Amino acid sequence: MHQDCERILLTEEELRAGVRGVALAVNARYAGKNPIVVGILKGSIIFYSDFIRHLDMPVTLDFMAVSSYGSGAVSSGKLRMKKDLDSDVQGRDVIVVEDIIDSGFTLANLRELLKERGAKSVCIVTLLNKKGRREYDILPDYNCFDIDNEFVVGYGLDYNEKYRNLPYVGVLKREIYEK
Ligand code: IMP
Ligand code: MG
Repeated sequence: MHQDCERILLTEEELRAGVRGVALAVNARYAGKNPIVVGILKGSIIFYSDFIRHLDMPVTLDFMAVSSYGSGAVSSGKLRMKKDLDSDVQGRDVIVVEDIIDSGFTLANLRELLKERGAKSVCIVTLLNKKGRREYDILPDYNCFDIDNEFVVGYGLDYNEKYRNLPYVGVLKREIYEK
C-alpha cells in the first residue's frame, strides 16, 4: 500500500466485481440502444475503461472536463467547462460516468446542461457515492459503492493530481491534506 494511505478501502477484486455488477444492470437497460458514454475527466478514466468493456450495446465514447469553483460555503452556481464534448447529444441517450458524487454540484449541473442541449435521456453512473455530503438534489442512477465521508484516492481519483494510478481505492492520511 502507498505510504500516504491510511488503509485500503476497496481492493482491485472488489472494484472489479462492483464495476461489473453495475455494467450488467446498464446493459439490461440499454439493450437495442446506442448511447453516448461520457467520461468526466480525469477522475473517471480507470473506472470508465473498465466499465465500457462490459457494455454489450454499440456505444459512442466521448469526454468532458469540468471544474466547479466555489466549492466552499457558497457555490458560484456555475460549472466551468475545460473540455467540451465532440458529439452532439441532441436526441441521444447519454450515460455520464463520474468517479464520485460528493455535494452533487458537478453532476446536478451537468445533467441540466445535457438536458438543455436536447439529450433524449441522461443516466448517471458513479463509482463512489458520499451519501452524507449531498447538497444538491441528485442521485446517481447507478452507483458501485457507497462510502463514508473520508477523502479517498486511487483508481482515477486524485489529491492535487497525485495517486490516480493506484490500482485500489485508499483512504488518504489526514496529515497529507491537512498540512
Ligand atoms: P461534487 O461536485 O461536490 O459532487 O464533487 C465531485 C468531485 O469532487 C469529484 O469529481 C472529485 O473530483 C472531487 N472529490 C470529492 N470527493 C473526493 C475524494 O474523496 N477524493 C478525490 N476527489 C474527490
Ligand atoms: Mg473529478
